Amino acid sequence: MKINSIRGVKDILPGEIEKWRWVETVAHEIFSRYGFKEIRPPIFENSALFARSIGETTDIVEKEMYTFTDRGGEQITLRPEGTASVVRAYIEHKMHYPPSVVKLYYIGPMFRYERPQAGRFRQFYQIGVEAMGSANPAIDAEVMAMLLEFFKDLGLSGLQLQLNSLGCQDCRPAYRETLKAAIRHHLGDLCANCNQRYERNPLRVLDCKVERDREIARGLPKTKDHLCQDCQTHFEEVQTLLRTAGTEFSLNPLLVRGLDYYTRTTFEVVSSSLGAQNAVCGGGRYDSLVEEFEGPPTPCFGFALGLERLILSLPPDKTENIGSPPDVYLVSLGVETQRESFRIVQELRASGLFVERDYEENPVSLKSQMRKANAKACRFALILGENELKSGKLVLKNMANGEQTEVLSSDLAREIQNRLGK
Ligand code: HAM
Repeated sequence: MKINSIRGVKDILPGEIEKWRWVETVAHEIFSRYGFKEIRPPIFENSALFARSIGETTDIVEKEMYTFTDRGGEQITLRPEGTASVVRAYIEHKMHYPPSVVKLYYIGPMFRYERPQAGRFRQFYQIGVEAMGSANPAIDAEVMAMLLEFFKDLGLSGLQLQLNSLGCQDCRPAYRETLKAAIRHHLGDLCANCNQRYERNPLRVLDCKVERDREIARGLPKTKDHLCQDCQTHFEEVQTLLRTAGTEFSLNPLLVRGLDYYTRTTFEVVSSSLGAQNAVCGGGRYDSLVEEFEGPPTPCFGFALGLERLILSLPPDKTENIGSPPDVYLVSLGVETQRESFRIVQELRASGLFVERDYEENPVSLKSQMRKANAKACRFALILGENELKSGKLVLKNMANGEQTEVLSSDLAREIQNRLGK
């Protein structure tokens, strides 16, 4: 019976995984420099956590969650995003004691039942960052600057940081009503989806992807013109600090995001090299979410980026040499040498060298093994034939210049390491 993988999920194979590891290594390095520490929340949680945080009327909660009842009768959901879990963990582990800004990041798979297409999967990976415990606009600017530094180190280009502010619990309700009143005049022209959204989640009408609706949306009242004084001041300061950090951005008054927990600053980074699914990263402030889950007042700012989309945008020259070739290929000739080859390979690996060998049960010719060493771009070939076995000296061949030397079996590790400058 042949079983294939499920639609919308994919294997990340050797050849590709090296890029992933490299991106993750750069993330660990840069985020640590900004004081972020890694957290690994579980992959499934109580369904109510996501429904309440992301919002009952969002696409994610209405249509995209992988939810099931477990054998104990609990409603479980495979996480569609990471922020809700981090907020739960923050409260559960009382991370607000002692009071300070808690900076966390996570890397892992998320699950959404979306229609699969290029750059959109049902299992996809995110790198997410959450800075918890400060309303200071410096946090917003610093985290976005860190993100762009990360993208720059990866060699990404053609990216645009788009910024908006969605206001807060004080100014948004009045704006929502103003927006609804304006939308009411266009209901006949808006798509069926927007007609549904209008009552329950009118802000989402602003970022409908239907071209005709986009045109209407451009004429609707924008959040940025309806912010209270505090939100206005916050938004202006975020922009000033971004300019101070030399971080380029543009304002997008139609940017509302697909999750309900956002307040004030929201942003996305879009890539010109991706097709329809061009959002590499999205995030913003969520100042009331911790309190909604019975935690103390904790203003937060964070983002998550989609690793598949990021990896698709990597420039080829940055990634073609990722993953180092083997240091040594052990060429073993004849049946008699097999056990000694095995011993030497293990000894060299134990000394820290990356060693490859041939696994044919009936040893193949020197020429064929050298071809394999070449194909793997090994730095050295180490040749052990029956003569070498008797003399205790092996032939070490530098694959780049063809130079050959005899090396005592007992000196191999040290000798190779010297030559590799290790
Ligand atoms: P989000 O915009 O839903 O935000 O997802 C963030 C990123 O995940 C997107 O920009 C995209 O790159 C990637 N992504 C989302 N869905 C898919 C998919 N089906 N296939 C491939 N990639 C996808 C969040 O998840 C928030 N939790 C971000 C956040 C953190 N806000 C504050 N803190």
